[in-house]
Parts: sequence; C-alpha cells; structure tokens
Amino acid sequence: MLNIALPKGRLGDQVYEMLAEIGYACPEMAHAGRKLIFESPENNVRYMLVKPSDVGIYVEHGVADIGILGKDILEETHPNVYELADLGLGKCRMAVAAPRGFVEDKGRTLRVATKFANIAKAYYARQNRDIEIIHLSGSIEIAPIVGLSDVIVDIVESGSTLRENNLVVLTEFMPISARLIANKTSFLFHNEQITAVAAAMTDRLTRKEEGR
Ligand code: PRP
Repeated sequence: MLNIALPKGRLGDQVYEMLAEIGYACPEMAHAGRKLIFESPENNVRYMLVKPSDVGIYVEHGVADIGILGKDILEETHPNVYELADLGLGKCRMAVAAPRGFVEDKGRTLRVATKFANIAKAYYARQNRDIEIIHLSGSIEIAPIVGLSDVIVDIVESGSTLRENNLVVLTEFMPISARLIANKTSFLFHNEQITAVAAAMTDRLTRKEEGR
C-alpha cells in the first residue's frame, strides 16, 4: 500500500476534491471527524491527514511515500525529498505587508513578523536589509497593528485578511502552489505506482488548464 501524507485545512479541501476527480477518493475521508488515517484498498493507498507544515517530515522519514504540501512550506523547511509536480492547487503569494501609510526608515533594523523565518531572512538578505525576525505561529497580521513588528511576511490568497486588518501589500515575491513530493527511497522502490499517481494528478491539471 502506498502511504500518502495529505495536508489538513484549507489546502486539504482542494486536495480532496482533486483526489476525487482522478479516482483516488476515499468517501470516508470526505466526512472526516477526528479520524486521521484512511485506507482506500481499491486504489491500494493509505492516507494520513497531517498538519500542512508536517507533511515534509512524514515523507522525508519515509512513513509516507508521497505527500502534498504548499511550495511555501517546502521553501521554508527544505525537506530532503523529491519534488515531483506542481499540482496547481492552493495558489497564493508570499508577500511583505504593512499598515496602510507605513513609511520605512531605512536607517533602522526592520522588525519582521512571520511564520516563515527562513523565507523572510533569505528575501531580506537578497535586499541587503538588516532585519529582526519575530517568529509567530499564526494571526501574523496583528503584529504590526499592535507595534510588535513594522511589517509582516505572510501568505496572501484572497487578500481579505489584510483588508480587514487595514494592511496593504508592499511587495509580492514568491508565487505559491501545492506540490507533490516523494520520499527518495520510495521513489525507487514504488516507482511505478508513484509515477502513475503523479501522472494522474498532472494530467488533471493539464485538462483544467486547457478547459477540458
Ligand atoms: C493564512 C495567512 C493569512 C491568510 C491569507 O492564514 O497566514 O493570514 O491565510 O489568506 P487571505 O488572503 O485569503 O485572507 P491561515 O488562515 O492559514 O491562519 P493562521 O493565521 O492561523 O496562520
């Protein structure tokens, strides 16, 4: 059985829809309560529902053969896995945002609140900008409002979280979408099955892009 780590939450809903479209649905999973592991014997797969930021850990350690996660988490954590395909789901951008009217004082260290410390550090290193990272786990948008940071580096999808908190995008610097990743050993030993799943997912994306 192929073990597949799937992200829970917002991206998870889109991933489930995609799995259903390519014939890899597991009806029980659509109505998941607190259950976290599901089997689809007809497809010879077992799904593990994990936190999006943990998908890479399951796959790198080989307890999942493949997994689906956002490019943001892949860039932030760099798990030792193969990135097999862009699935075209969960599209959003990594952005720098600040309160409306914010004027940067280039003479001062910039305080940056983010969940994505490595991505933010790399971005500002490219700008030669001296920063202090304030590492938060969520609700990042609050930080500049209450004076914990000057700006945030975070994901923007619809833009409504920024709007509703009176923040504006200063720069968008990284397009993001969901990726299929594989454990390096599993890719060798289950190559046929993994390649078939990857092909079904990318064929679906091509059909969507071509409007079929
Ligand atoms: C993400 C991100 C933004 C929001 C952006 O947060 O951190 O807050 O989504 O989406 P939008 O542009 O469509 O409003 P998430 O919902 O994952 O929750 P979190 O704040 O707990 O990280």
